[in-house]
Amino acid sequence: MSTLESNFNLSKKYSREIKSLLVFVCKRDLSWLLSHSEYELNDQEEVLFKQAYELLLTGTPLAYITSEQAFYNYNFKVSPKVLIPRPETELIVDIAIESIVKSQEKAACLDIGTGSGALITSIASELQKKDQIAFKNCAFMAGDISTDAIKQAKINAQAYGLDNRINFLAGNLFTPFIDLIRRHNIRYLFIAANLPYLTKEEREGENSIKAEPDLALLGGKDGLELYLELLQQLKKYQDEFNFHLVMEINPWQAEKLIQASANNLSDINIKKTPDLNGQTRFIELNNRRN
Ligand SMILES: C[S@@+](CC[C@H](N)C(=O)[O-])C[C@H]1O[C@@H](n2cnc3c(N)ncnc32)[C@H](O)[C@@H]1O
Repeated sequence: MSTLESNFNLSKKYSREIKSLLVFVCKRDLSWLLSHSEYELNDQEEVLFKQAYELLLTGTPLAYITSEQAFYNYNFKVSPKVLIPRPETELIVDIAIESIVKSQEKAACLDIGTGSGALITSIASELQKKDQIAFKNCAFMAGDISTDAIKQAKINAQAYGLDNRINFLAGNLFTPFIDLIRRHNIRYLFIAANLPYLTKEEREGENSIKAEPDLALLGGKDGLELYLELLQQLKKYQDEFNFHLVMEINPWQAEKLIQASANNLSDINIKKTPDLNGQTRFIELNNRRN
C-alpha cells in the first residue's frame, strides 16, 4: 500500500501533472489530498494511477488521460478527437462578451471550428451571468466539420445547461450557419474562429501536440488556408451583415492574414490583438458602419 506521504510527497516536489492524476484517480480535490497525507491508495486506485502515469510518461497529454480540461472558469470534457482548449484562446470569450453587449441589437454568436465547444459554452454562460438582456437577444451557434467534435461540444454544452440555447451545425466553415442566421433575421454577427493554423513542419516539430487530431491543427500552406477560405465565404455576405470576426493565429502569420483580409473584404477595420505575452495572437475584423 502507498500512502500519499510515503510515495507521492505532494506538498514538495511532485509536479502539477502528478497532483492532477491523484485528484483524478482518488476522486478527491487537491486540498483534501494535501491535508490527508496518511491516505492510502486502495488496490484499484494504485492500478489506475500506474496506468495513468505510464500514459503520461509516453506523451499522452494529461487532459486526454483525465478526459477533462479547464478553460475560462469551466471544465470541459475532451477526447483525442478534439483539440485540448488552450489558455490563450480564453481572451476570445472576453472580446465576445464586450462585442455582443455593445451591439445592442439582435445578435448571433458563431463559433467556427468549435472542437470541444469550450468557446461557445463559455461565451454563452458568461453572457448569461453578465447581461441577461444581451443573452436573451443572442442566438448561439457552433459549427465543425468533424461530427465527433459536434458530439463532444453538445455534451459540454449540456453539462452547463446550454444545449438548448446553442445550435450545433456540422459543415464547412461559415456555410452551415447562413440559413439559420437569415431565418432569425439577425444583422449582427460575432464570429469566433480558432481554426487549424499550423503548417506541417510546425506540427511535426512540436512533440507536445502529437496526440491531437490533424483536423484540428493543420492549416495547409502557410497554415492559413482555412482562414483564406473563410474570408472568401464571408465576402459573399459582407453587405448583408455587420460582423466582428476574431481569428486566432500564430504571431508570424499576422501580416499575411491582414493582407488577405484587406484583399477579400471591403471597408473593414483591422486590428491586431496581442496575447498575454504581448504577441499578436488574434486578428480582428469589423465591418460595422456605425
Ligand atoms: C484549433 S481547433 C479549435 C477548437 C476549439 N475552437 C478550441 O478553441 O479549442 C480547430 C477546429 O476546427 C475544425 N475544423 C477543421 N476544418 C474545418 C472546416 N473546414 N470547417 C469547420 N471546422 C473545421 C476542427 O475539427 C477543430 O475542431
